[in-house]
Amino acid sequence: MCGIVGYIGRREATPILIQGLKRLEYRGYDSFGIATVGSSIEVFKKQGRISESEAGAVSLAGCIGIGHTRWATHGEPNDINAHPHIDCRGGVAVVHNGVIENFTELKRQLIERGHTFRSDTDTEVIAHLIEEHHHGDLLEAVRATVPHLRGSYALLAVAAHDRRIVAARDCSPLVLGIGDSELFAASDMTPLLDHTERVVFLEDGDIADISADGVEIYHQGEKVQRPVELIDWCVEDARKGGFAHYMLKEIFEQPQAFYETIRAGVDETVRNLVLSADEVTLVACGTSYHTALIFKYLAESLCRIPVRVELASEFKYYTPPISGLAVAVTQSGETADTIAALKMAKAHNCITLAITNVQGSTITRVTDGTLLMRAGPEIGVAATKSYIAQLAALMQLINIRCGGVFDEVLSHAHLAIGEVLMRDIQDAVALCRGAEHIFFVGRGPFYPVSLEGALKMKEISYVHAEGYAAGELKHGPFALLTPVTPVVAICPPGSTYGVMVSNIKEIKARRAPIIALGVDGDSELAEIVDIFIPLPDTHLLVQVLTSSVVLQLLAYRTACALQRDIDRPRNLAKSVTVE
Ligand code: M6R
Repeated sequence: MCGIVGYIGRREATPILIQGLKRLEYRGYDSFGIATVGSSIEVFKKQGRISESEAGAVSLAGCIGIGHTRWATHGEPNDINAHPHIDCRGGVAVVHNGVIENFTELKRQLIERGHTFRSDTDTEVIAHLIEEHHHGDLLEAVRATVPHLRGSYALLAVAAHDRRIVAARDCSPLVLGIGDSELFAASDMTPLLDHTERVVFLEDGDIADISADGVEIYHQGEKVQRPVELIDWCVEDARKGGFAHYMLKEIFEQPQAFYETIRAGVDETVRNLVLSADEVTLVACGTSYHTALIFKYLAESLCRIPVRVELASEFKYYTPPISGLAVAVTQSGETADTIAALKMAKAHNCITLAITNVQGSTITRVTDGTLLMRAGPEIGVAATKSYIAQLAALMQLINIRCGGVFDEVLSHAHLAIGEVLMRDIQDAVALCRGAEHIFFVGRGPFYPVSLEGALKMKEISYVHAEGYAAGELKHGPFALLTPVTPVVAICPPGSTYGVMVSNIKEIKARRAPIIALGVDGDSELAEIVDIFIPLPDTHLLVQVLTSSVVLQLLAYRTACALQRDIDRPRNLAKSVTVE
C-alpha cells in the first residue's frame, strides 16, 4: 500500500516523480504529493488520484525530489494527510510506506517537546524526529531516528541545502535504480523501468545515502555492499498497450504468463525442497490463497502428500503443529501477512519456499528457495495473470513430485487459455450486471475456482458474490436463492459431474437462474441451465485454468457494464503491506 519514489540527478525531478507516481498509483490512490529540494523545500500535495489530476502542470524546481501516492491508514484521505510530511520549520520532508505502530506515543512526546503537528498521519512523527536529530547531516539524523520507530517503513527523506536523499527500510519494500549520474528510489521496479535496468534491493534495516554520484548503504552502522541486479521486465510490459484497462491486458497476457512460467522451469534448490518434503503448508492471502487451495486438491489426490493451506492473516495468531515445507504464495512478495506467516513457519523449523512474481521482493529474502513466476508486471489491482502463473508454478511442483504426471498437459495448456479469451459471455454479463447477489459454485478444485470467481466479481464490479462448495448451498445459502439471484456453476466432466448436475437441478427448482461452465458439446447440461458457456474438452487441470479465465472475463465485463473503476477498485490497493 502506498507508493514512494525519489530522484536525484541532473534532470528536473518533478516530471520524473510524477511519471513514477503514475506508475505506482496501483499501490494506493487516495492522494499524492511531491517535494523538491533547493535552498528550501517546496511541496505540492493533493487529495485524489494523480492520474486524474492536473499534476502535469506542477512545476516545483530542483533536481532532487521525493513523491508519494497514498492508501490511507492513519487519517482520512485529504490534502493535509497527503505525503510528503514536513517538520515544524519546513526544512525536512519525508515520504513513507508502512505503519508506525508507536506513533501515538511518539507524537505525544514530540508535542510535549514543542513540536507542532499538521496532519493525522503516523508518518509525520518521522519528519519531526528527523528534525530533532538534524544538526546539518541528514544521514546521521535518519540513523538516529529509525531506532525510535516500531512497525514497518520504507521512507525517503530530504533536507534543505542537502544534496542527497536518505532512504531507510524495515518490513516495507524499497528498491534503488542506478542510472547514469542519476539515481532513483521506489517502492517497486515499475517506475524504474523507464530509466534503468540496474537495480539494488535494500534489505530490512538498511539505510542508504543517495547522491547523484552513487549510493552508500549502511546496515547496523556498518557500510555494506548490495548486489546490482538486472531487471528482466521491460517498460512496455508496464503499459496498457492499447487495451482499455490493465486488467483486460493482463487477462489476455495469460497464455504467455503460463507458458513463460513453465518454460523457466524449476531450479535444483526448489526441486530438492519439493522432493524431500513429507508435508506441505501453504500460506497466502486473497487470490493467492485460492491457487494454494487448488494445489491442495491436486497434490493430495495425485501425490498423496498431506497439504494444509492457511490464510496468512490467521496463521500468525495460532500455532498449528507443522513441519516439512512451508510455501508462501504471493504475487507481490510484499504482503505483510504472508511474510509474517512464513516467518512463523520458519520459527517452527520448516524449510521455506516463496512462489512470487517479483524478483528481489521481501519474501525472497526470507525463504530458503524461490520459484519465480514469469507473469511480468501486474498493474491492475485484481490479480489475473499472476493467478494463472501461480498455478503454472504450483503445477510444476506437483509434476516434479509425481514423476512428470503433468508433463504433457503443462506444455500445451496455454493454448486452451488462449482459446477461451474470446468466449461470448454477453448473456451472462447481462444477468450479472442486474443482480445484487451472485453465487459461484463448484466441487473439488473447482470449489476454489468458484471462490476466485466470486472474489473477482465483488472486487471490481461491487456486486455481492459468494463462492461455495456446491454441496454446501443447501446447508444455509439456499434460503437466499430467488429468481434474481444468479448462480454460476462450474461443471466439467469427471467424478463430480453427476452430483453437480443434481445440485444444479436443485438450484433450478428454487428458480434461481443458472450460468453453467461445462465442456463444449455437453448438451445435457446446456439444456437444463439458463446460460451455457462452453470450455474446451481437455484435461481437468486445463479446465481449472480455462474456467478461471472465463470467470475473470465475466467479472471484468460486468464491471465494465456497471462503469466501475476496473484497475483501481474502491478502497483497495495492489500490494497489502500492512497487517
Ligand atoms: O501479492 P499477493 O499475492 O500476496 O496478494 C494477495 C492478495 O492481496 C491479492 O491476491 C488480492 O486478493 C487480489 N488483488 C485479488 O484480485
